[in-house]
Amino acid sequence: MMLLPFTLLALLPFHSVLSIITPTYNTHQYYVLEHDPSSHATPHQCAHALGAELVERLGELDNHWIVRTPKLRLEGRDTEDRVLAAWARLRARGSELVARSSEDLKARSISRSIKSLERQVVRQRTKRDDTLLLRHPQETEPLNSSMTEQLAHRLGIEDPIFMDQWHLSNDEFPEHMMNVTGLWEMGITGQGVISAMVDDGLDFESDDLAANFDAAGSYDFNDHVPLPKPVLWDDHHGTRCAGEIAAVKNNVCGVGMAYDSKVAGIRILSGPISDIDESSALNYGYQNTSIYSCSWGPPDDGKSMEGPSLLIQKSVLNGINRGRGGKGSIFVFASGNGASSGDQCNFDGYTNSIYSVTVSAVDYKGLHPYYSEPCAANMIVTYSSGGGKHIHTTDVGKDVCASNHGGTSAAAPLAVGVFALALSVRPDLTWRDIQHLCIATAEQINSEDPDWEPTFYGKPYSYKYGWGRLDAYRYVTAAQNWKLVKPQAWAEIQPIELSDAAMNETSGVMTGGELIIPGGITSSRIITAEFLQENNLETIEHVNVRVWITHARRGDVEVEITSPAGVKSILAGRRKFDQDINGFPGWTFMTLKHWGETGVGNWTIRVSDQENPEFTGHFLGWSMILWGSSIDPSKAVEYALPEKVMPLPPHDETITTSISEIASSTKVLIKPTQHLPGDHGTAEGEADKPSFPQDDEEAANPVPSEITSTPDEGYFTHITDLLSSNTWLFGSIAIVVAFGIGCTVFLWRRRVRRRRSEYAAVMAGDSMHMSSMERGIAGDSSTPRSKELYDAFGELSDEDDADEEMHLVRGHDPDLDGDYGSGGQAGAYQDNPRHMGGITEDDRAGHRSPATDSGDGSWDHASDAR
Ligand SMILES: *[C@@H]1O[C@H](CO)[C@@H](O)[C@H](O)[C@H]1NC(C)=O
Ligand SMILES: *[C@@H]1O[C@H](CO)[C@@H](O)[C@H](O)[C@H]1NC(C)=O
Ligand SMILES: *[C@@H]1O[C@H](CO)[C@@H](O)[C@H](O)[C@H]1NC(C)=O
Ligand SMILES: *[C@@H]1O[C@H](CO)[C@@H](O)[C@H](O)[C@H]1NC(C)=O
Ligand SMILES: *[C@@H]1O[C@H](CO)[C@@H](O)[C@H](O)[C@H]1NC(C)=O
Repeated sequence: MMLLPFTLLALLPFHSVLSIITPTYNTHQYYVLEHDPSSHATPHQCAHALGAELVERLGELDNHWIVRTPKLRLEGRDTEDRVLAAWARLRARGSELVARSSEDLKARSISRSIKSLERQVVRQRTKRDDTLLLRHPQETEPLNSSMTEQLAHRLGIEDPIFMDQWHLSNDEFPEHMMNVTGLWEMGITGQGVISAMVDDGLDFESDDLAANFDAAGSYDFNDHVPLPKPVLWDDHHGTRCAGEIAAVKNNVCGVGMAYDSKVAGIRILSGPISDIDESSALNYGYQNTSIYSCSWGPPDDGKSMEGPSLLIQKSVLNGINRGRGGKGSIFVFASGNGASSGDQCNFDGYTNSIYSVTVSAVDYKGLHPYYSEPCAANMIVTYSSGGGKHIHTTDVGKDVCASNHGGTSAAAPLAVGVFALALSVRPDLTWRDIQHLCIATAEQINSEDPDWEPTFYGKPYSYKYGWGRLDAYRYVTAAQNWKLVKPQAWAEIQPIELSDAAMNETSGVMTGGELIIPGGITSSRIITAEFLQENNLETIEHVNVRVWITHARRGDVEVEITSPAGVKSILAGRRKFDQDINGFPGWTFMTLKHWGETGVGNWTIRVSDQENPEFTGHFLGWSMILWGSSIDPSKAVEYALPEKVMPLPPHDETITTSISEIASSTKVLIKPTQHLPGDHGTAEGEADKPSFPQDDEEAANPVPSEITSTPDEGYFTHITDLLSSNTWLFGSIAIVVAFGIGCTVFLWRRRVRRRRSEYAAVMAGDSMHMSSMERGIAGDSSTPRSKELYDAFGELSDEDDADEEMHLVRGHDPDLDGDYGSGGQAGAYQDNPRHMGGITEDDRAGHRSPATDSGDGSWDHASDAR
């Protein structure tokens, strides 16, 4: 209704005039310029020489500046980038040995002042809720609430859904809950701590969150307004996660783990964003905000291998070194929901970062749900959906509750809640203490699970559960008497190169290396005690292993490392759906399994594949960083990211190209899927399967390899394969039926929704358009198709919330229907129609529009900044 005029307006020529007033990714091309502060030219002069405009400093990063140029109307994506071309010319001119003119001198001065220049592309991050997962059976069993009822009475809890919050008090399986209520009885409720939900918004007007909302630490990087209001129809995720941490103890919905702590909302998931936004988001308000709760990441499709770009790595490190007055920001990441697709959190550069606390999930019985991703970077496990139960929490709306929150998305905020409680009693804990406490207090569950393996540290480790279940009571009481750990030290082992391996730094092409033969290729390196002493390294904590491997089918490759103590870490297990042909061009893995070892002795890496004769590859080389505690704290230094990516083999010649160009060129090749793991579709969890089976049980179940369906057939290929496996026949039938019902419901609902209100249908169209457009710009060959499937299932899964949605709509001015539509992800980037149509979200909330607002931290508004 309202939407039609908007759409028409967007076509009118005067719109382009308006959009210059409010620059967006649509109107301008953005770049990040890294400036050398010791140089002569100022950032402003550098930008000017590039023919660009200096916007402002990037977030909290020193020497990083945002610059932009208006996009030319006819500029296609294949045309040369004017700014990068200008930089190349400056470099060429400035590098001439003899300066012939003052222009040459100036070029030299400018080109020396620019350390790197990175063109920004917008990307979409994926939420880790269970919208992708097939639905679990609905909860049927009535709770025997006697214990919980008594507890509620004793603590004066009147929140109506507290009885359903089994993660706080589990009558059925009392050993499986966060065990937080004992802390509440001690008066530990999270006072004075701020956690930020880096997510799709936070409904700060909810009666269950308003009192604990921290506006100062909040910002909306999608729409560039100060407050992270959920706007899109599926912006539920951040609010639900926030409720798990800090839902107010009152008579609305439930209670949060740390119900007197504060939550801020940093909105980044409701549309594609650039690295500038993501980088700023991860440092937003980082002196006052202690914890960043991140339940998102690259797609969990079992074929992506993606990590933070260099710029984002810099802001994470900046948060670690300078956040919270130098004690370090706490980054908590959900391990990912792709286990049923064979995905592993070591293929995700956010979850396998040494700076993240990575959290996997078990269900209310303590069983491993089929989605939760295993890997050697999993630190701890908390609770989430599975076995027919979900997480109950707050939802978007004045007093709306969610009864179906789940996925590893719901597990990570429970860990955030525990850390908020710990920091409220021990604000001096550093980011390292938070991690050490996890490992020291985590508790083994399902001790019969073959995934547990002994370690040097003295307690077993599991790829599924990390060091075990996070127990709030154990964690916080241990924190109360915790002796702070020594600062970090590290020892870097330079690349070990096999058989004339080389990687062309320009093209990324890898040559040479050892052919991976049946049984695999091993390579060893002796680490001496002297070497570790020189590096001030006392004991090992995290271990990074970087590998260069070519392979015709990446998913066949297995990588494992064995430490001198005889502990083996599987870094890469087989990924059935990963048919990428680009191998591992210097991908970095991380393992926590060697925590506490000395590190001295023979480290052996083994790279093997599945003896699939038609797919072969070469192992070119590897390097390691051993991270740990320092011997002498006074000699500890802060880690800084290397100026350039270490090439293979090491070259002497200086690299003139900025490494950010290399870093952002990661390409993901998505191909159709062929296999499906056994536990998929069974809502019941398990506790008797190793994450990485060592025998060749899959080989006994050969799958026709000639299937080469197109990406959009991917889902059906799953089904076909599934049917070929007798063992899972019953599961498959259930899935097929569920799929059919799901599709029917989806289509029916979509039709109903189209009829009910126009905006939903139009929006879906817009967002698909956007996603394909965005991929086009990024030059990324990942299939837009898979994004559509994500969208489709997202909509499907939300269907059982029909009444919630009604609340949502009812809770707002009916006039805003149009606004909802235009505030969609396309709207924010394409035409910004919300500032054209009179009524905007901001007007109602009493905020000024971005065009007039300044000093709120938005770079978009700082067009006058110099
Ligand atoms: C439920 O609670 C009652 C009363 O507290 C108790 O007697 C009974 O054993 C409980 N049942 C179960 C299944 O735990
Ligand atoms: C749970 O907390 C209680 C105190 O409320 C404590 O006695 C108990 O040991 C904790 N449970 C576990 C499994 O640590
Ligand atoms: C951080 O907290 C201090 C003290 O409460 C306050 O003065 C300051 O404005 C806050 N800063 C931000 C960015 O929220
Ligand atoms: C590296 O690749 C680039 C671009 O493909 C090519 O021009 C160059 O000659 C290659 N360098 C070497 C040493 O092979
Ligand atoms: C290191 O271990 C590997 C594998 O066990 C072995 O082949 C190699 O000889 C060892 N290296 C040394 C120097 O002991």
